[in-house]
Amino acid sequence: MPEFVKTGIEGLDSILNGGIVKNAAVLVSGNPGTGKSILGLQYLYNGVEMFDEGGIYLTFEETKDDISEAAESIGFDRWDEFVESGQIKVYDKRTLLRSGDFSSTLDTILDDLQDTQYDRLVLDSLTMFQLFFENEQEQRQYLLKFIDILKDSGLTSILTMEQSAVFPDTEIGLENFLTDGNIYLIQSPAGSTSNRYIWVAKMRKQPIKNSMFPLEIDEGGIEVYEQAAGFSMMGDTPPMFGEEDPGGLE
Ligand SMILES: Nc1ncnc2c1ncn2[C@@H]1O[C@H](COP(=O)(O)OP(=O)(O)OP(=O)(O)O)[C@@H](O)[C@H]1O
Ligand SMILES: [Mg+2]
Repeated sequence: MPEFVKTGIEGLDSILNGGIVKNAAVLVSGNPGTGKSILGLQYLYNGVEMFDEGGIYLTFEETKDDISEAAESIGFDRWDEFVESGQIKVYDKRTLLRSGDFSSTLDTILDDLQDTQYDRLVLDSLTMFQLFFENEQEQRQYLLKFIDILKDSGLTSILTMEQSAVFPDTEIGLENFLTDGNIYLIQSPAGSTSNRYIWVAKMRKQPIKNSMFPLEIDEGGIEVYEQAAGFSMMGDTPPMFGEEDPGGLE
């Protein structure tokens, strides 16, 4: 029986049948605004608050203050406290882009990670990370090396990526194969509003419920409604594009 790292998001841990397998690297994909960053913040926040597990947050897009404001706005009130105490370590845009030479900065971080005491890591986002490399070969080499180091360092990681849910006729990126798990966040229009869903498409070494499940973002973060009727991504019933609410939501 593998050891699991819980996200602390009840419905999601249940869909995963226990959590994320320890030392796995999981890709969380979705269009802008689908909740990738919030999921990452929540994973680290819950880690400290519920399980006493420290976490590292790497971002190329935001400053420490941006992240702190985002965390506070969603109700993760003790975020700053956890950062100050060192239970959450943030490498932000300023730290990462300080020297002009991205690959040497990256090497320093990879060195840091190698003997880390932390349990969890979030990289927000891999899309941005990949933009720093000049060619595809270099990009692949670093991606491979990065994922290897994460797994060898005892970290259980979430990497976010700007990518919509994959259908059979779209090109599937290397990131999807190199990672142990693929989770998609989906937002689809429904009348004057929109519905949010989560779909766990793959998770190596663990049985999962691979239907789509409704998700809500509110004060306190992401909530996943595992009890609501899931539906298949490949089935003939499309996600709700009408005015109806997905069945079973409260
Ligand atoms: N306090 C809040 N209450 C309710 N919903 C919120 C709150 N804060 C953010 N949201 C919702 O979460 C969405 C943003 O989520 P998030 O920033 O995690 O998206 P993302 O997938 O990381 O987007 P991007 O690709 O642009 O980085 C917002 O569009 C908003 O709808
Ligand atoms: Mg984001």
